[in-house]
Amino acid sequence: MPVVRGKNIEPLFTPEQIAERNREMAERIASGPVKDLLVIAVLKGSFIFAADLIRALHHTGLAPEVEFITLSSYGAGTESQGVRIVKDIDSDVSGRDVLLIDDILESGRTLLFAKELLYSRGARNVSIAVLLDKSVKRKEKLEADYVGFECPDYFVVGYGMDVAYAFRELPFVGVVTGDA
Ligand code: IMP
Ligand code: MG
Repeated sequence: MPVVRGKNIEPLFTPEQIAERNREMAERIASGPVKDLLVIAVLKGSFIFAADLIRALHHTGLAPEVEFITLSSYGAGTESQGVRIVKDIDSDVSGRDVLLIDDILESGRTLLFAKELLYSRGARNVSIAVLLDKSVKRKEKLEADYVGFECPDYFVVGYGMDVAYAFRELPFVGVVTGDA
């Protein structure tokens, strides 16, 4: 089992599995009715997945524009949980076909907020691609259009995802199981 920063990390999804799913998702996205696609990566956790999925999209012949939005949730574990924009996109989305890319769809609050925001700004269509779907944790009525893997209800790290700023650099998705 890999040991990183003195912790045992049990791999859940390997780099090879992830690369294969990225290729399949890109093919499905490209086979849809997309034209003039604007991809928006939801930072920070999606940065590696977005980089790989965007390059997989290139190999299908699509030439998306790429934007970034940083969103943060507040009040986690309290009654009034919300999402705020830490750093907004620069582009005008009116009339555009938008693909939101995020690492994990969990409660659905983050991506529901993003989707409603983009529609309120006049986007023509907003679809969602996530690497992982923790569907048992869903609180909002929201599903992703493209899902890499159904995720067991563990706190996962790697491939862009962190716990307390650590482990984003891992090339696989894994679970911290304890001290090495
Ligand atoms: P939601 O708004 O509850 O759907 O939250 C999804 C966001 O929470 C994701 O974009 C991640 O940033 C974060 N998140 C949820 N579960 C995990 C996890 O297991 N590891 C790392 N980040 C997570
Ligand atoms: Mg996130």
